[in-house]
Amino acid sequence: MSTALVILAAGKGTRMNSDKPKVLHQIANAPMLVHAMQAGAALEPARTVIVAGHGFEEVRAAVADHDPDATVVMQESQNGTAHAVDACRDALNDFDGDVIVLFGDTPFVSGETLQKMVSARQDNAVVVLGFDAQDPGKYGRLVMQGDSLEKIVEFADASPEERAITFCNSGVMLAQRAQLFDLISAVQPHNAQGEYYLTDIVGIARDRGLSVTAVECDEDETLGINSRAHLAQAEAIFQDRARAELLDLGVTLQQPGSVMLSFDTVIGRDCVIEPNTYFGPGVTVESGVRIRAFSHLEGCHVSRGSIVGPYARLRPGAELSERTHIGNFVEIKNATIGEGSKVNHLSYVGDASVGKGTNIGAGTITCNYDGVMKHQTNIGDNAFIGSNTMLVAPVSIGNDAMTGSGSVITKDVPDAALALARAEQVTKPGLARKLFEMLKMKKKKRGEES
Ligand code: UD1
Ligand code: MG
Repeated sequence: MSTALVILAAGKGTRMNSDKPKVLHQIANAPMLVHAMQAGAALEPARTVIVAGHGFEEVRAAVADHDPDATVVMQESQNGTAHAVDACRDALNDFDGDVIVLFGDTPFVSGETLQKMVSARQDNAVVVLGFDAQDPGKYGRLVMQGDSLEKIVEFADASPEERAITFCNSGVMLAQRAQLFDLISAVQPHNAQGEYYLTDIVGIARDRGLSVTAVECDEDETLGINSRAHLAQAEAIFQDRARAELLDLGVTLQQPGSVMLSFDTVIGRDCVIEPNTYFGPGVTVESGVRIRAFSHLEGCHVSRGSIVGPYARLRPGAELSERTHIGNFVEIKNATIGEGSKVNHLSYVGDASVGKGTNIGAGTITCNYDGVMKHQTNIGDNAFIGSNTMLVAPVSIGNDAMTGSGSVITKDVPDAALALARAEQVTKPGLARKLFEMLKMKKKKRGEES
């Protein structure tokens, strides 16, 4: 049976204390909503519908970024979770299958758990995902009778006996599309909060003689994010999992807890990642690379056998070929570095292409910005750029060419040429000694005066 994925994301998230809609706050550099969409993707949904309200346009843009085929529907006022699912009624009108409802602020439900729910659906009209809570707090309580779920009671409406139950509602629910909307039509807002509760469909289904059950998952999977503290907790959970995955894949993390990863970080086998390295979004690292301590990478690709850092910064568009060396305090942006080339110390290479086997001396800067526009620098193969060369773009340096240290290069340098663009040196014999004596005399005189 095909499945449609519905994600509820209209809530304001007051406790985040933010101008940004809650579901757009990021975990590992992707909105939590995208994590929820990825969780649901495990069921290969035929349709995806996101219910948005607060910050509708921003949410729509973020969804389109991740999955242009997803539909975003508007829930004008937030009258409860059943009301939110009801907002998808038209979007799913012609859909003939099951609907799984996830929350946009509950990003870590595993694919395995969702599959378990799908299996349980074979014998049940409605399947709810529950977890045994360490601290059940204000979660809805699942009232079970053997394997059968009798009803869900929201905390605000629960009796003391019901509040003592620790088996709680995660919010994830699965039912056949027509049946789900039929049950929702019967929900009334007769409760402490005056809202249309999705949880009420359980009792309604039971009254109609339908079978309802709950599948249990780990509490870690149902972490709901309502505050910055929860967000930090979610980040920690994600990072721990991602680090463990890398270790399993044959990556050495010398101090795993100090390495920060993004939702899409890819690192190959036999790489060594030294402490305090940060992987922003869009980084791929091939095997056998060493990323040395305190390096910051985003939107870049590092090929086999390269060494990066310590203290290197690779910005978006940095493309390192095989066996390159990028050393300390070097920044690379929107630039390709050819095979075996080295940029070892204190340099900025931006909007540039560097050929194979080229050495870029310490303190080299591509002057790519004139205050209004960006310009390109091209450097050939086996070139040697002397220390402290300023390459004023647009400019090209040929193959096997050389620039003298301290040069300000404003014109193209042909293949095999040496370019010097610095003032001639003037040397005055004996003048240093004279100067020193003069200065020492001055200092002595001052001392006598005071
Ligand atoms: C809900 C459940 C509760 C469960 C808990 C798990 C109900 C009635 N209660 O409570 O049993 O233990 O989640 O975290 O379902 N939303 C909308 N539109 C609305 C209302 C909510 O889109 O009108 C979205 C929110 O943005 C959020 C999700 O639905 O992503 C859950 O809403 P929330 O208000 O957090 O429900 P809880 O009170 O936490
Ligand atoms: Mg909640």
